[in-house]
Amino acid sequence: MTIRFDNRVALVTGAGAGLGRSYALLLASRGARIVVNDPGGSTDGKGGSNAVADKVVEEIKAAGGTAVANYDSVADREGAARMVKTAIDTFGKLDVVINNAGILRDKTFAKMELDDFDAVIKVHLLGSVYVTKAAWQHMIDQKYGRVVLTTSGSGLAGNYGQSNYGAAKAAMVGLMHNLMMEGAKHDIKINCISPVAATRMTQGVMPEELLKRLAPEQIAPAVAWLCAEQCDVTGEIVAAGAGWYSRIKLVKTKGAVLNVDKINTIEDFAAAKDQIFDMTGSAPYAKTLDEDVRKRLGIAV
Ligand code: NAI
Repeated sequence: MTIRFDNRVALVTGAGAGLGRSYALLLASRGARIVVNDPGGSTDGKGGSNAVADKVVEEIKAAGGTAVANYDSVADREGAARMVKTAIDTFGKLDVVINNAGILRDKTFAKMELDDFDAVIKVHLLGSVYVTKAAWQHMIDQKYGRVVLTTSGSGLAGNYGQSNYGAAKAAMVGLMHNLMMEGAKHDIKINCISPVAATRMTQGVMPEELLKRLAPEQIAPAVAWLCAEQCDVTGEIVAAGAGWYSRIKLVKTKGAVLNVDKINTIEDFAAAKDQIFDMTGSAPYAKTLDEDVRKRLGIAV
């Protein structure tokens, strides 16, 4: 079955280049009306140009699609509200939000200025919060929504010199797990994409041979499916790159039950450390620790 987005409206942040552009073009080619958000600017988030978003709008229109530009920064609360308003004023509603905008300010933690930490958290984490929050009530009212957040291997596994970026990207997962619960009864599905793609962000940090295989267009089908009516998952992390798609889960080891009716000592913990850390029999971590412990102790959840 062909997956289409007729009568759907999508806001893609940072859609002027790289991954966001490929998401916008794919969704538009399948009938979605698109708000192409991008203030322009360099990879570190400085400067700006309307031409960046305008160009993608022109590309979409040239291919027979429908799109409008927005030049606000996701890191600006009022700007985020304006993006959502642009969708509703222009197209009457908003069904899909792809939080894709991003910047980098790489440095080792020892050398990093706190301003660089603040700036990266502001664009990735707070930007995603501001935009999603601006759309949230509308999605609740219409009882439908698809939200994608962009996480990263830097957040899920770590990357040298990216403590600010990695922290912001890991925060997407926490945001997702909580909004997943609040959105469920309104048919709002929220998932994370963890991409690897050749864009200006990865230029120079990966070998040419690898970059040739990493088309952003190889990420777009996964993101588009997460945004489709047919998407039947929420609270998931999908990894994508070079045509390889997979699911990422937090796991919990079987662990060790030590003293339950008496306070354990540090030495009790140390003696069981290998068993606590042993991955054998580990399973997806889907419940809060509190729920898990109650179950283990036989206390009604
Ligand atoms: P890119 O630099 O080509 O695109 C990012 C876009 O976001 C740019 O067009 C930029 O103008 C826009 N942007 C920056 N600050 C903004 C703001 N405050 N408001 C609105 N738009 C803003 O980079 P790429 O690779 O396409 O990145 C897209 C997303 O994917 C980012 O969130 C990035 O962190 C993430 N990502 C990319 C990976 C890769 O391998 N390329 C790996 C993991 C995550």
